[in-house]
Amino acid sequence: MAKIVFEAVTKTFRTKHKGRGTQEFTALDGIDLEIGAGEFVVVVGPSGCGKSTLLDLLGGLSRPTSGRILLDGEPVTSPGLDRGIVFQQYALLPWRTALGNVEFGLEATGVPRRQRATRAREFLELVGLTGFEDRHPHELSGGMRQRVAIARSLAYDPDVLLMDEPFAALDAQTRESLQDELRGIWQRTGKTVVFITHGIEEAVYLGQKVAVMTSRPGRVKEVVPVTFGDRGAGLQGEELRSSPEFARYRHEIWTLLHDEVARAQQLEKEEATV
Ligand SMILES: Nc1ncnc2c1ncn2[C@@H]1O[C@H](COP(=O)(O)OP(=O)(O)O)[C@@H](O)[C@H]1O
Ligand SMILES: [Mg+2]
Repeated sequence: MAKIVFEAVTKTFRTKHKGRGTQEFTALDGIDLEIGAGEFVVVVGPSGCGKSTLLDLLGGLSRPTSGRILLDGEPVTSPGLDRGIVFQQYALLPWRTALGNVEFGLEATGVPRRQRATRAREFLELVGLTGFEDRHPHELSGGMRQRVAIARSLAYDPDVLLMDEPFAALDAQTRESLQDELRGIWQRTGKTVVFITHGIEEAVYLGQKVAVMTSRPGRVKEVVPVTFGDRGAGLQGEELRSSPEFARYRHEIWTLLHDEVARAQQLEKEEATV
């Protein structure tokens, strides 16, 4: 049985326009997608195609207008500790230290107070932040804050990690090193990861499957399986990124996306002239 199933998921928003009353706006239109346990699936699509909407639905932060999302065979109706979410902007508590922020994730799960600090330290170590436990978010770099956010969502041990462009605000080098760390964490923990990005290289580097979305209303245009032989034992980092196979996947996904980005720009132009 698949871990996560999207069945004909549609999401419409009602928007108010001055003088024109309310309008229905379709953000997602009939999303079908299956994700296996332990899979790393990346969703790419042009800006505004409904990627965040899709992740919010899976996180239980909002409900589909029609269709349904199953997690372990059960419909998703609310947020839950079985899903950890990491957003693009570090949603950390500014008044808490790195350790305190990771502990925060454990408070909801009923881990006894004394064990929380130990557990939080372990997860800060996992993301390479040993020695920074007592720093507050403003004393950390962007990359470090995002590591804290990842440690926080891993600490309460959710089966599924949902990530919405978590590295988009970081510089290229930090982004690449966090991609490597995330891959390592995924390999060690066996979690199911759903990762949203608009970056093609990031998608090819991280995903076992890359779901390419159409421009809005968002649908799944194609799911591209990305196989670099046995990736765990195979190439890493720059070697993988500069391999001919990598270039082939990048081109395949670029081609799929290119038409969609062009269509999205056309839509915007038309709307601007209405
Ligand atoms: N709460 C909302 N109310 C109205 N429209 C929304 C809402 N959330 C998102 N949208 C619209 O739905 C579309 C998809 O948004 P989003 O999922 O954020 O796209 P992406 O993450 O792919 O950039 C956008 O056009 C956005 O303006
Ligand atoms: Mg988004």
